[in-house]
Amino acid sequence: MWIRKTHTTSDRIVMEEPRVSIIGLGQVGMALLNAFSKCSIEVVSAFNRSGIDPSVKEKFPNFFFGKGFPGQKDPIGDLIIVAVSDDAITEVAKKLSDLLTFDEHKNVIHCSGTHSSEILKPLKEKGGKTASFHPIKAITRNTVSFEDIWFDMEGDEELLKTLEQLAEKLGASSFRVEPEAKPFLHASAVAASNYLVVLADLLSKISALGNIPEHTAIKALAPLMKNTLSNITELGVTDALTGPIARGDVQTIEKHLQSLDSDPKLQALYKTLGREAVQIAERKKGVSPSLSTIKELLS
Ligand SMILES: NC(=O)c1ccc[n+]([C@@H]2O[C@H](COP(=O)([O-])OP(=O)(O)OC[C@H]3O[C@@H](n4cnc5c(N)ncnc54)[C@H](OP(=O)(O)O)[C@@H]3O)[C@@H](O)[C@H]2O)c1
Repeated sequence: MWIRKTHTTSDRIVMEEPRVSIIGLGQVGMALLNAFSKCSIEVVSAFNRSGIDPSVKEKFPNFFFGKGFPGQKDPIGDLIIVAVSDDAITEVAKKLSDLLTFDEHKNVIHCSGTHSSEILKPLKEKGGKTASFHPIKAITRNTVSFEDIWFDMEGDEELLKTLEQLAEKLGASSFRVEPEAKPFLHASAVAASNYLVVLADLLSKISALGNIPEHTAIKALAPLMKNTLSNITELGVTDALTGPIARGDVQTIEKHLQSLDSDPKLQALYKTLGREAVQIAERKKGVSPSLSTIKELLS
């Protein structure tokens, strides 16, 4: 195990820090590199298929950077993070299993939300420990921190204990997930992030029908979206629903639908989401004549 007991004090075990190598310096690889350097996690090397941007080498003069893949003589950590595109993980795992020597002290993880650690099988068969360690965050070139986020993870239990500590060191939290549940969790994460963008696009388009510019609409409605998110977190989904459907205000919904007459596609989307809102309202308050009328209007 790469986190080894170095010594014990009276009430706690003090452990050695991980020594990390990163394969793939895309958005996630770079974000991890930046975050590790800020919280003193030792990065011994990083490799990228198409080479390393000179500005990265300048920023981290003490790290070993390599183009392509690690060779036997290159410095390599005991935690190897495969941060390549999902579709490349199988190929990269195979390459690493051919290029490096593995034993129980070598640990390999990937960051994919959909794939489980099963995809790293060639490395496990050579004696390494494997896991998936997925940051539930939209990561861009500007991401330098993993604070206050959650990682889902599965794989070798001993390695998971270590990754739990790694997440803590990054200021994040972690939880274990069954390998079979990963695609469900990832689909939810995509809905949470990407479909929020779709929702912002919807509200911009609806506002635009009233000649309200996108930047005004987003500026005015973003605090409402944030407040609703706080309500969802504090009260749960059902109790967080407010507004005309939750109140059963039939005339308000009629007016909305009339104002969307000029754009049948937007109106259809408003109706589809509205029907979901009716179901939540019925869960909250039970079936009522006004909700039944709204349901008909939205059908
Ligand atoms: N971005 C996110 O929001 C996010 C969030 C959570 C998890 N993840 C996961 O993190 C992983 C990396 O995603 P990313 O967003 O960092 O992707 P990315 O920015 O597109 O970077 C992809 C990286 O993979 C390398 N790569 C692609 N094909 C390769 C191959 N055949 N052999 C070797 N290297 C190859 C690329 O190298 P080149 O530079 O040479 O092309 C690049 O370093 C994925 O598993 C993804 O699911 C992403």
